[in-house]
Amino acid sequence: AAPARKSMPSALTFDRHAKCSTTKARASTLHLPHGSVPLPIFMPVATQASLKGLTYDQLRETGCMLCLNNTYHLGLKPGQAVLDAVGGAHKLQGWDRNLLTDSGGFQMVSLLQLATVTEEGVRFLSPHDGSPMLLTPEHSISLQNSIGSDIIMQLDDVIATTSPDHARIKEAMDRSVRWLDRCIEEHKYPERQNLFCIIQGGLDLELRKQCCEEMVARDTPGIAIGGLSGGEAKEEFCKVVNTCTDILPEHKPRYVMGVGYPEDIVVAVALGADMFDCVWPTRTARFGDAIVSSGTLKLSHKSFADDFGPVEEGCTCTCCRPTDQGGLGLTRAYMHHITAKETVGAHLLTIHNVHYMLTLMGKIRQAILDDQYPAFLRKFFSDIYGGDK
Ligand code: GUN
Ligand code: ZN
Repeated sequence: AAPARKSMPSALTFDRHAKCSTTKARASTLHLPHGSVPLPIFMPVATQASLKGLTYDQLRETGCMLCLNNTYHLGLKPGQAVLDAVGGAHKLQGWDRNLLTDSGGFQMVSLLQLATVTEEGVRFLSPHDGSPMLLTPEHSISLQNSIGSDIIMQLDDVIATTSPDHARIKEAMDRSVRWLDRCIEEHKYPERQNLFCIIQGGLDLELRKQCCEEMVARDTPGIAIGGLSGGEAKEEFCKVVNTCTDILPEHKPRYVMGVGYPEDIVVAVALGADMFDCVWPTRTARFGDAIVSSGTLKLSHKSFADDFGPVEEGCTCTCCRPTDQGGLGLTRAYMHHITAKETVGAHLLTIHNVHYMLTLMGKIRQAILDDQYPAFLRKFFSDIYGGDK
């Protein structure tokens, strides 16, 4: 059971406007210290305090109200002393809207083969000079306090969802609960930074339930579901999200970490999730892939060499919008021509893809407000798989 403590202050308010009558989808607004965020939301990932290829003006123009930074990367460079001296990551990068930071453990375990987890924390070798380092729950929170992000994440013990080692999955779940207590203890600014817990437990629904109960009892301002997007089957993914959202309180935001693809997001929304992040839309842009309502276009393919339509008809991003409406009016042929050769091609597609994801979230929200979410889902999937293109 949770240790007795007074309820944690919160630096957010969560207003729920509508709930779908047939699915668990919700439309709400999350009021954070750097502005209000309409939910459901997709959060672009600016790992190194920069969304690769975009200036913050350009990111602002996509309508983004909340983006991600990573504690692991910012803690290594520029490091805590510089973050303290400049007054946090908002000032460092000139971003006056909201920031969420992931705690670092997941990045280490996924990026560094050599990371090892003990009760104390995550041990790893510095990618800069190879020296041994230790990220503890306390250190992660202290770094995130210096970063000053509006939402901070607990350090959690993350293992691959597809791991067959049940004892290890249970250990990671129990340890994540113990680490949450250490994070709560260390957190210096609960009145201006919102700490979110992270539900673990792999694909085992009983472990997930136990974890939800333990974490919910700690009463953090928001709740994340972790350990997904690791290559598990879609059915398993849905069962885990559905099991958790059945237990989680209705009046708190729910964040499914590392998800994802538009198809996964629209389904997770139907299961009651509100927040998502993923590097895929921005990463795939750098490979010349455009996200559109019929799926993904590989613009490097020769079939686009003489295609003079916009990346997506009707898209209002800077890249696609016609020149007489103040956009650049760029064609698929032009994007094909510069893709993979000129860095600006990656930048322009990043703008389009982030715009696509945020516009998708806006449509999802409107469909929930209109209580038309099932119809939205049918159209969404028929645009991709319908075969009437
Ligand atoms: N990003 C994607 N999945 C996870 C997770 O389970 N934990 C953390 N901290 N970050 C993530
Ligand atoms: Zn566009």
